[in-house]
Amino acid sequence: MNTENTTPVLLHIDASPRGARSHSRRLGRDFTASWQAAHPGGRVVSRDLGHEPPPFVTEAWVEGAFTPPDGHSPDARQAMAKSDELVDELLSASEIVITTPIYNLSLPAVLKAWIDQISRVGRTFTMGPDGYKGLVGARRTTIIVASGSDFRPGGPNGALNFLEPYLRGVLGFIGLANVRFVYAHSLNDGNPQREASLAEAGTTARQLAAA
Ligand SMILES: Cc1cc2nc3c(=O)[nH]c(=O)nc-3n(C[C@H](O)[C@H](O)[C@H](O)COP(=O)(O)O)c2cc1C
Repeated sequence: MNTENTTPVLLHIDASPRGARSHSRRLGRDFTASWQAAHPGGRVVSRDLGHEPPPFVTEAWVEGAFTPPDGHSPDARQAMAKSDELVDELLSASEIVITTPIYNLSLPAVLKAWIDQISRVGRTFTMGPDGYKGLVGARRTTIIVASGSDFRPGGPNGALNFLEPYLRGVLGFIGLANVRFVYAHSLNDGNPQREASLAEAGTTARQLAAA
C-alpha cells in the first residue's frame, strides 16, 4: 500500500490480559498520545487482543487459507472473514505499535494467535521459486515489552528471551523489517527499580512515537 500523501494511521495492539494494572498498556497509551500529538490529522485504530483474543487456527481456517475460495465450506468462509479483517487492518496502517508482556520466556498466546491470523499466503507473504517474500510494505513498528525480570538482549536473562527473536523473525518474514523494541524490565524487583524502569521505557516510547 502507498502510505504517502494519505492520513497516517497507527494500529495500536495490546496483548496483556490485564487492564488498569498493565504496565505495557500504560506505556502503549504514552506512545499513542505522543504519536497523536506528532500527527494531528492521524487516526488510531485499536486492537485489544488481551481482552478480545483472536481465534486459533482451526481445520476450517487451514482449508480457507490454502484452497480456492469457490469451494470453501461455510466454516472456512467464516474463518477467512475474521482473518481478512485482521489482515486488512494491518495493511491499512502506516505505523504499528504492539504492547505485550513476556510470558514464560516468550509472547502471550493471544499475540501468537494474532500472528497466525495475519500470516497469510497471498496476502502478507508469497512462496515462489526464489523462496518466501513478505508482502507488507515497510511500516515503522514499535514493540513495547513488559517483563518481571530483566530479559533485554544482552542482559542477565537475554539468552532466554524468545519473544524478540521470534517477533523480529516473523514480522520480517511478512515484510516488516523496521522493528524497534522498548523494554520495561525488572518490574517485579521492587519499587525504586520498577519506577526507574517504567520511567525510562516511557521516555523512550514517547521519543520513538514523536520521531
Ligand atoms: C503467566 C505469566 C508468565 C510470566 N512469565 C514471565 C517471564 O518469563 N519473564 C519475566 O520476566 N516475566 C514474566 N512474567 C511477568 C510479566 O511479564 C510482568 O508481570 C509484566 O508486567 C506483565 O505485563 P502487564 O503489566 O502489561 O500485564 C510473567 C507473568 C505471568 C502472569
